[in-house]
Amino acid sequence: MDLLASKPLVLLLCVVGCCAQSAVLPPGPIDAILGGNVTLKTIGGKLDFNFLIWNFNDGSKSINIVTASASGVKVGTAFTGRASLNVTNGYLTIGPLKSEDSGDYAITINPSAGDTVTGEVQLRVLKPVSDVSIKSSLSEAIELNSTVVLTCSAKGSFLQFSWLRGDVPIVDDGKRFTVKNGELSSNLTLNDVLRTDQGPIYCTASNQLQLARSAPFNLTVYYGPEAVAISPLAPLYISSKANFSLSCSAVSSPSADFLWYRDQQEIGSGGPILTLGVINSLGFGNKTGNYMCKAQNKKTQRTVSSAAVAIAVIEPIPSAEVSGPAAILIAGNSTANISCRATAGSAASTTWLKDKQPLAASGRLLFSANMSWLRIDPLQKEDNGEYTCRLENAVSSAEASYKMVVNYGPEQATVTGQKAVEVNDKVTLDCSAPSVPPAIFSWKFNNTLTDVKTARYLIDMALYKNTGTYTCEAYNAVTGKTTAQSHFLSVKEEGALDKGLSDGAIAGIVIAVLVALGAAIGLIMYCRQKVPRYRPKTSDYYLLP
Ligand SMILES: *[C@@H]1O[C@H](CO)[C@@H](O)[C@H](O)[C@H]1NC(C)=O
Ligand SMILES: *[C@@H]1O[C@H](CO)[C@@H](O)[C@H](O)[C@H]1NC(C)=O
Ligand SMILES: *[C@@H]1O[C@H](CO)[C@@H](O)[C@H](O)[C@H]1NC(C)=O
Ligand SMILES: *[C@@H]1O[C@H](CO)[C@@H](O)[C@H](O)[C@H]1NC(C)=O
Ligand SMILES: *[C@@H]1O[C@H](CO)[C@@H](O)[C@H](O)[C@H]1NC(C)=O
Ligand SMILES: *[C@@H]1O[C@H](CO)[C@@H](O)[C@H](O)[C@H]1NC(C)=O
Ligand SMILES: *[C@@H]1O[C@H](CO)[C@@H](O)[C@H](O)[C@H]1NC(C)=O
Ligand SMILES: *[C@@H]1O[C@H](CO)[C@@H](O)[C@H](O)[C@H]1NC(C)=O
Ligand SMILES: *[C@@H]1O[C@H](CO)[C@@H](O)[C@H](O)[C@H]1NC(C)=O
Ligand SMILES: *[C@@H]1O[C@H](CO)[C@@H](O)[C@H](O)[C@H]1NC(C)=O
Ligand SMILES: *[C@@H]1O[C@H](CO)[C@@H](O)[C@H](O)[C@H]1NC(C)=O
Repeated sequence: MDLLASKPLVLLLCVVGCCAQSAVLPPGPIDAILGGNVTLKTIGGKLDFNFLIWNFNDGSKSINIVTASASGVKVGTAFTGRASLNVTNGYLTIGPLKSEDSGDYAITINPSAGDTVTGEVQLRVLKPVSDVSIKSSLSEAIELNSTVVLTCSAKGSFLQFSWLRGDVPIVDDGKRFTVKNGELSSNLTLNDVLRTDQGPIYCTASNQLQLARSAPFNLTVYYGPEAVAISPLAPLYISSKANFSLSCSAVSSPSADFLWYRDQQEIGSGGPILTLGVINSLGFGNKTGNYMCKAQNKKTQRTVSSAAVAIAVIEPIPSAEVSGPAAILIAGNSTANISCRATAGSAASTTWLKDKQPLAASGRLLFSANMSWLRIDPLQKEDNGEYTCRLENAVSSAEASYKMVVNYGPEQATVTGQKAVEVNDKVTLDCSAPSVPPAIFSWKFNNTLTDVKTARYLIDMALYKNTGTYTCEAYNAVTGKTTAQSHFLSVKEEGALDKGLSDGAIAGIVIAVLVALGAAIGLIMYCRQKVPRYRPKTSDYYLLP
């Protein structure tokens, strides 16, 4: 091949980027570690040459490394003991490498057949990657407020840096993250840091041959408070005796300090819990108030308020006390005032029951404005009974009862019993007269007081002389009233009275009637069977399932 003739083509190829020299050596640069060995390889395997030369150019001068020819292999003085050539394939091994070995290596081969060829490749002797570490421009950052520059520094040559959060690469997005790489360091700028930037963050430094990772770096990002919540949130009535507390929580780093407010007034600080004990000790133990907490972050210097919650601390009513009139009460002439009070606490509502039924105002019955007492004027017999007062507030209820006795009567006495009997018959006369307390009875016969002091006047076997007027007198010692009723009894001779049918006779009649009725029914049934009539059979119906 005519070398001169092919030159324009070689030049053209060089412009395109594919140099003719690369036909002998692979493209560079070739990287190798300081202190290690490197083998510069030729392309094409087994070589057949008259002579072969490797030269080194450190940028200023060319130095011979090795020359191989028919007479043998000769290593240049500068490389004695550090270079070796494989004459089979022309590979040059150099080591241990020094940093001065960085430079261009050129090969010239004069083959047994054909033209001399040359090649050149760059070798870079790399310092090992080491001492990769991260430093932060700020020791503590505040979320959204701080811009942090993390600097990763390392030793080595031709270093490439990358950043990771956990296992995820941090890429330069031109906004929150910007990365600026230098020769021996890389700056990662975190704009408006977020808590998610805390890490652990790693930095890696690498060259073609090595990669080293920094220790995890934790960026402290303070944030919050957020989501400041008071609990319970619902408005509440709380018994002053309850084991109750309000609690406040917030998302915050570092943990928030809490301040407590009641109706916009600060009432205490410190913990996230405000107990009823503290509320009581501050004198708010029985007042309604709107409670709120504020969470404060010392580092971010932000303070956030919770919602407010209305809390009413109410003293429970342990028991109720009812008092009624102590005097003896007489219907029509007495009045009663029944009052009710809570032994402690106060009632929000008072209701009254009489004999377990709701009690309502009426002509004689009057309630006080707040139902704390009721007055009945005048009392009547219907007012007897058990009066119950029921006190309620939001946290408790209590009941108490008063049994009222209204004395009355006796009302008009009535006598019931036979008006006429036959001699030797038994006579029972009953006297009654509604009264409280129960009436004391006495009986007069023909206006003469008898010994009978009971409601019943009993004569076992009547005598003719028992005929006469029986007067029952009912007396109420409390009201001092007496009522009386007379009843006339006449005793007649045996058989004088139409006593009607005896029990035996009545039974006989009933049996006779039943027998007759039975016979009649039997006869009717008999007659109906004689007359054929259509009667439906079961099979005439379609029985539905
Ligand atoms: C480098 O080569 C020399 C001989 O040339 C050898 O003795 C040495 O072990 C090699 N070193 C490494 C790291 O391969
Ligand atoms: C030289 O290279 C050839 C082919 O790659 C190999 O077989 C041979 O062992 C090498 N010689 C030495 C001394 O390393
Ligand atoms: C990284 O930042 C520091 C100062 O924060 C600066 O001195 C250094 O030059 C920066 N490095 C690069 C590669 O930008
Ligand atoms: C960094 O944070 C992780 C958890 O987020 C923790 O396990 C580790 O100990 C921290 N390292 C340092 C140096 O504080
Ligand atoms: C109040 O309740 C809390 C939790 O419900 C409990 O730990 C505490 O012992 C209670 N205190 C009293 C005095 O009952
Ligand atoms: C609360 O208690 C104080 C004293 O303990 C008392 O003076 C005040 O009237 C009470 N308030 C209510 C609404 O019960
Ligand atoms: C956060 O930034 C605002 C304005 O950018 C500033 O007023 C405030 O002081 C900063 N907070 C802290 C804790 O540095
Ligand atoms: C009512 O009481 C008065 C005196 O307290 C007395 O004079 C009067 O008789 C009494 N009336 C009745 C019906 O009890
Ligand atoms: C009923 O009694 C209460 C309590 O003893 C008292 O305050 C009230 O004035 C009395 N009412 C009447 C009408 O006497
Ligand atoms: C009802 O009113 C009276 C004063 O008129 C008061 O003494 C009492 O405490 C009140 N009772 C209730 C339950 O509010
Ligand atoms: C009682 O009175 C009646 C009629 O007034 C009279 O018939 C009867 O004989 C009297 N009886 C006695 C024992 O006095």
